[in-house]
Amino acid sequence: MTALTLSTAGAATLRADALVVGVAKGAKGPVVAPGAEAVDKAFDGKLASVLETLGATGAEGEVTKVPAPSGLKTPVVLAVGLGAVPEKDETYDAETLRRAAGAAARALTGSKKAAFALPVEAAEDAEAIAEGALLGAYAFTAYQGGEKDAKNGNGAKLPLAEIALLGAKPRDKAYKAAADRAIALTEEINRARDLVNTPPNDLYPESFAAVATAAGKEHGIKVQVFDEKALAKGGFGGILGVGQGSQNPPRLVKLSYTHSKAAKNLALVGKGITYDSGGISLKPAGHNETMKCDMSGAAAVFAAVVAAARLGLAVNVTGWLALAENMPSGSATRPGDVLRMYSGKTVEVLNTDAEGRLVLGDALTKASEENPDAIVDVATLTGAMVMALGNRTFGIMSNDDAFRTSIHEIAEEVGEQSWPMPLPSELRKGMDSPTADIANMGERMGGGLVAGLFLQEFVGEGITWAHLDIAGPAFHEGAPYGYTPKGGTGSAIRTLVKLAERTAAGDLG
Ligand code: BES
Ligand code: MN
Ligand code: ZN
Repeated sequence: MTALTLSTAGAATLRADALVVGVAKGAKGPVVAPGAEAVDKAFDGKLASVLETLGATGAEGEVTKVPAPSGLKTPVVLAVGLGAVPEKDETYDAETLRRAAGAAARALTGSKKAAFALPVEAAEDAEAIAEGALLGAYAFTAYQGGEKDAKNGNGAKLPLAEIALLGAKPRDKAYKAAADRAIALTEEINRARDLVNTPPNDLYPESFAAVATAAGKEHGIKVQVFDEKALAKGGFGGILGVGQGSQNPPRLVKLSYTHSKAAKNLALVGKGITYDSGGISLKPAGHNETMKCDMSGAAAVFAAVVAAARLGLAVNVTGWLALAENMPSGSATRPGDVLRMYSGKTVEVLNTDAEGRLVLGDALTKASEENPDAIVDVATLTGAMVMALGNRTFGIMSNDDAFRTSIHEIAEEVGEQSWPMPLPSELRKGMDSPTADIANMGERMGGGLVAGLFLQEFVGEGITWAHLDIAGPAFHEGAPYGYTPKGGTGSAIRTLVKLAERTAAGDLG
């Protein structure tokens, strides 16, 4: 885990392997951003022209490494692009700083220590830089050769080990709180990324539940695990039906974080398909290689509950992880089978690859029993949502327009791309079944909304609910950018934690 400290040291005096500065896109070429004045001075005020000579423009995400002059205590200066210079009286927005810090940290993989001298005007800026740097420094190396191998050109380089943030005020309460929050939040996001990236032969419902149990102990969260016997006794036909084809039996995990001063109860429900082969409706090759990511919703919920506990938020947060492995076998659910859900509703399974809604249906009904003030479920639910919104944006559906808008605004504020989606009631009839109360598939068009309508049937009467379909952004297959690595991204966690903070503050109805 990368360590982060706020430092009072000057940029010219701190010893490190690299010094990170910001460079913006000015009207007449690159401009050195505030925070790097001492560095520029060591270059005799010529850092911008040196960077320009090296081809730097200040474009977002651009990284330029320059050997440091003798006045500095670091061998290298790394200039990271910040994009356009802010308008007069404005400062760099949080997401710009987050992404720049992330790109810099990523470019310093394999280094021991770096000092960040990016523009800091307020505690929020320090928080964004800390978040971006700690998320960008992430690397999943558990299954690769260690540092020794990396030196031989094998194995993976280790993430940047130590980050010193300059320009922040370590003795100022607001800065200290900002750094603490960034550290707790990013550690949980990075842990969720690890869970998503862990191959499905090692991460299955039972092992995921064990990770949750251990974390619960560590952070004072009550954890209850329903194993296959308890699920059968309780009548969780959806979770059992999805899990019955696998050698690895399903689990439902309940995480309860409570606070003595809490006035509100928030329930979070996560889709935790540790591997989605499609089941008997097997996915074709080309569509199953990354399906270890199908537990990203459960990982996000897990991370959010632990983060809420670590931050001591004054709200009760209950997390529900619906864990199963969707496999084809002689014991698997067949297309045509009818399952009796925990709610008592019967579902005709027309396609065993529409399994997420089955495990979530049970978990949503169970979560509703406690009558929380709101339920938010998070799921890599449909390919249709990826078609609609692309790879970086999650869809938000809700039975409450104001709640959907709030979540969209919160996501925007924390730097997560999302978009409100409707739940058109005319799509419901496509799920009518001649045999059961409902089928698990409907019209192909608007498939993401159809899935949302299915879930809505399992939410308790009168409970505010939102559904986040993170199938696009949960797992990043392209080249890394900003603080987003390849593989598990930790999508929706920052939104969930901010939602919990807002709920604790009484800002939401
Ligand atoms: N886990 C998939 C959805 C998914 C697709 C996640 C791409 C991440 C990336 C889900 O279980 C699924 O297979 N959905 C089907 C539903 C269909 C059979 C109604 C889909 O979207 O094709
Ligand atoms: Mn599926
Ligand atoms: Zn799935």
